Formats: sequence, structure tokens, C-alpha cells
Amino acid sequence: MSNYHIKHLEEYYQVYRKSVREPENFWEEVAEEHFMWRKRWDKVLSWDFKKPEIKWFEGAQLNITENCIDRHLRTKGDKTAIIFEPNNPDDAAEHITYQQLHDRVCQMANVLKDKGIKRGDRVCIYLPMIPELAISLLACARIGAIHSVVFAGFSAKALSSRINDSECKMVITSDGSYRGAKTIDLKGIVDEGLESCPTIENVLVVNRIGSDINMKEGRDIWLQPLLDAASTDCEPEIMNAEDPLFILYTSGSTGKPKGMVHTTAGYMVYTAYTFKNVFQYQDGDVYWCTADIGWITGHSYIVYGPLANGATTVMFEGVPHYPDFGRFWQIVEKHKVNQFYTAPTAIRALGKQNISFVDDRDLSSLKVLGSVGEPINEEAWHWYNDNIGKHKSPIVDTWWQTETGGVMITPIPFVTPTKPTYATLPFPGIQPALMDENGDVIKGNQVDGRLCIKFPWPSIARTIWGNHERYKDTYFSAYENMYFTGDGALRDEVGYYRITGRVDDVIIVSGHNLGTAPIEDAINEHPAVAESAIVGFPHDVKGNALYGYVTLKETGESRDQNNLRNEINQLITDRIGPIAKLDKIQFTDGLPKTRSGKIMRRILRKIASKDISNLGDTSTLLNPECVQDIIDESL
Ligand code: PRX
Repeated sequence: MSNYHIKHLEEYYQVYRKSVREPENFWEEVAEEHFMWRKRWDKVLSWDFKKPEIKWFEGAQLNITENCIDRHLRTKGDKTAIIFEPNNPDDAAEHITYQQLHDRVCQMANVLKDKGIKRGDRVCIYLPMIPELAISLLACARIGAIHSVVFAGFSAKALSSRINDSECKMVITSDGSYRGAKTIDLKGIVDEGLESCPTIENVLVVNRIGSDINMKEGRDIWLQPLLDAASTDCEPEIMNAEDPLFILYTSGSTGKPKGMVHTTAGYMVYTAYTFKNVFQYQDGDVYWCTADIGWITGHSYIVYGPLANGATTVMFEGVPHYPDFGRFWQIVEKHKVNQFYTAPTAIRALGKQNISFVDDRDLSSLKVLGSVGEPINEEAWHWYNDNIGKHKSPIVDTWWQTETGGVMITPIPFVTPTKPTYATLPFPGIQPALMDENGDVIKGNQVDGRLCIKFPWPSIARTIWGNHERYKDTYFSAYENMYFTGDGALRDEVGYYRITGRVDDVIIVSGHNLGTAPIEDAINEHPAVAESAIVGFPHDVKGNALYGYVTLKETGESRDQNNLRNEINQLITDRIGPIAKLDKIQFTDGLPKTRSGKIMRRILRKIASKDISNLGDTSTLLNPECVQDIIDESL
């Protein structure tokens, strides 16, 4: 039986049951079927969540780039691996075939070797969404160096702390980057960051915007001449299954960012297997994920998962609103995109615009739509379904995390009936559990609790770089023998999961447990509302009360704010109950967001609690300026 490509619901349940009853056999079959191993594993899995220690495919040897590139050359050398769509729609898109990708990755790998990068060294990649970004990841993997991509929107400070944490030897960057109508001086940011990074020996610089930059003698080198002189052959380094492939930083609820470490074999098997099934990718399809490779979504579902499947993956350099709000749909039409994967924040932003941006485009190529990164509210789900999917392309609401490496809870398109705001069912091999406050597993359906995973899966992060204790404390200490996700979830009457938000966002009001997501969902249903965020603030009688920050759509007409407040509270009362009514509603122009588009409730919580003396570092926000506005308006 091939369990690689699930095609109907019965088969899902069958495959799922097997993955739970005989996980080792199940994953062994997946690993045997579709990959290129230099040496077979001795043991499929050994694990201990107490230490914690997790090993998959121990004893196996491989190189992930052989699986993502070389393996396809015989039959797909001329097939497009990457379509690069530049920031400026008037510039030509670039189609990079698998053969060309092979050659360019080898050239880059040879340059890295030449500059002294060896197996196990850390290389920091700070690049915009240009082909060199994907090529740099793969070049590191080719020679066994560990890449640490830092999203090229992070500040100099954020960059240097990440470089120092993992003691990188090299930075790969560009002179600058395009972002819509603006250019960004990336190299200037790198120069500033590197003032406090003693481990960096070289900076390789891509010429992207042709700006006049400072090149530090002995340290900084233009990349292109080195690539031109390098050989297009580079023998892959033969890696052990559990050798680290990359480090990727993610913010914790407290303290400095955590360098999540992903290893080679398990990550490859899981991202490839999920990619194929979650997007029902068929040979010849064009797949586009709008994330940046600076995030885990880009690592797993722009680079490794698609390429391991020999897919055609689109890389977009620009932003959704340049040159206008129709850009995404123009790209879908232009490249005849079949699978489109984006974030709810983008869907909400685009849903606010004139519908002609969508209607002017031919979106008939679309087969599957994806959502990731935060709970997708009902209104955004319907807008996506009505206008983009036109009720024929299923929406896969994929729940997962940087730490999980790949998608964990998701519908399988054309297989799992979807339900708005529900991530639905666990992917094969994933064993979720909902836990109560006493640390007991909650059985049955129509329940809610804290989401844990009770059995390892191949792409779980193995540690936090340089801090295994923190890894243990954060993920394995809250519940015995469980990986704790930090999220709350409910399981409905048929066993579908709905992620209700971070558990730290749950607010107890008069002894009732309220998730922020369903309340925000209710508010967002109001036709005048663009976006909202709920936080708790101390209340004499109730313990906590609810504070809502609400942004309104730009309709041009003025609305009476008190009427709006009443209407919003009426909606909440209707949808959830009077218990969830907001004590305060503040209308504001913007909500503070992380670079990946998540609302920073931590800051809003402090403002709502009038605790503004210590808001923490707001410099890495997407829109730091809105914080002061919100404070001023609240006084
Ligand atoms: O709270 C969940 C939310 O994003 C968190 C993980 O964030 P990050 O590590 O940045 O990875 C994002 C991309 C995989 C989760 O703990 N989250 C992610 N996807 C969903 C989601 N919440 C609800 N529904 C989702 N589909």
C-alpha cells in the first residue's frame, strides 16, 4: 500500500490509524518510498520526552540537497524548480530549472568552502526574497553547514543577537532590497549589527539594487564574481540523520529568542510528506507560498518540502500592495498558480480592498488555498472561500509552529470536509491531546483544553541552540510525557480541532475561561470592523475584564463611536454570551504587529493595564509608531 498520497477520507482514517498503532512502520514506509539514502537507518525512532531526546532514522546517511535537487535531474532537469517573481511587475520573472538550481547551488557551496566554511559551521543568511536566498540555504545544506536565516526585516540589534547566540562565521546578505516603492539599506543594517559580532569572518554580498555601499576590507566580498569563477559541481557532504540542518529563531513569551534546531532526515521526510498531501500537489502544478523564507513556513513550504517533491515553487520578492492591492491576484493569473498558501493577516488586508482587484483577474488555475500563522476568523475565511476559492478550491487551515517543523493539524484538500475556523484533523503521525488544568488528558469530544502532542513526529525541533534546559522547560515540563504547544484548542463533536489562540491569551473573566480568538471573530463580523485584538485587564469584581482594540475599515463615512461600541457588544453577546462583553473598546488606526503579522497582545495588555513603564523592546515591530498613538488615545 502506498501511504504517500492520501486521496479519500476512508484512506485518511486508515492511514491515520496505522500511523498511531505502528508509528515506526508507518514512517519507515514513507521514508523508504520516496527518498535517496546513502545509508539506511538502523533504528527508526528512539525517544524520551523526559530528557528530552528524540532521534529519527538513526544510523541513516544522506544529503538533503541530493533529495531536493540531484534526484530529479535525470527526469526533470529542464523542469522549473523556482519561479522568481520580482518586486517590480515590469521586470521579467526568472524560471530556474532543476539543472540550473543544481549548478547554482554547487557554485555557492564551492564559494562557501573556499571561504573556509566547514561542516557544522553556522552561516547567517540575511537576504531579501531573491533566488540567492533559497540557493544559500541549499548550499549550506550541500556542505553540511548549519544555516541560520534571519528575516531581512529585523533590526541590526536583532540580527547581531542571533548571530552571536549561534556564533556564526559568515553572513550572506545583499547591498539592499526592494520593498514595494521603497528600497532598504540591508548592508547598512548588517554593518551596524556586526559592530558587536566577533565571530564573523566574512560577509558575502549580493548586488541586488546596485547601491553604493561600504565594503569592509578583508571582511566583505561581492558574491557574483566568486560564483562566476566557481565550479558547478560540488560533491554533497554525507550527513548523519540527526546532524543539525538549520537553526531558526522564534520569540518566546519571555526572554531572548529561541534558536530552534532542526535536524536532517526527519525534517526532510516530514516536510516532503506533508507538502504532497496538504496541498495535493500533482506533477506540473505551480505552487506559491507567500511567506518569507525568513520564517519556518518559507523554509518548509517554499524550499525543502516543494523541492523534495520536484515541484515548481514561486518566490515573490515584493509586497501584496505594490503596485496596488491586486498584486497577489495578478501573480496567480500570470503564473497560473495552482496552490496558494498565505496568512490570515494578508487575507484580511486584501479583503478590505475594492473587489475589482480580484474580479479583474483570472483565478481559474487555483485548486487549493492555504492559511497559516494564526487563527483565521470566520469573516476572512468566507471572504477567501467566496472570492478567491469561489467555493471550489478547499481552504486548508494549517496549524503548526516553528518548533514542529511541518504542518500538524490540517484538512487534506478534497479529502477532509472543511469547516470555517477549524484546522480539522491531525495529520497522519500526529497524536494531539487536550489537557486540563490538573494535567489530565481530557477525553471525548466537545471539549477544550491545552493542546499537547503525545508522541514524537519526525520534524519536531530537537533542542534550543545552546540551551537544552530551556527547551525542556518550555515544551516538556508543563505536562508529563507531552510536548506542550502553548496553544489552546477545542475539539468539536466530530473530533475536529479549532485552535483558540495562545494559552497566554486566554483570559479568565469571573471564573470563565475565554479565548480571545472567538471574541475577535465575533467583533470582526461587524461590517465596519477591519481587525481587533482582545486583552484582559484587572477588574475589582470579575478578576479580569476585557479590553478591545478595534480598527475600522476605511469607508469614508463617519460613524458614531458609542453606537459602534453597542453594536459590537451586541454581536459578542449574540455569538458568545454576555460574559464575553467588552468593558472597554478603543478605536485605533493600527494594532502593533510582529514582522510576521501577528498582533502583539503583550503590549496591548500592558497598555490596557496602564502599565506602560516597561513595554519591552518594540523596535522589532512592523509598525512601532502605532504604540504611542494607542497610549495617547487611551489616556
Ligand atoms: O498560536 C499558533 C499560531 O502560530 C503559532 C506558531 O507560530 P510560529 O512558530 O511563528 O509559526 C507560524 C507558522 C507555522 C502557533 O502556536 N498558528 C499557526 N498556525 C495557525 C495558528 N493558530 C491557529 N490556526 C493556525 N492555522
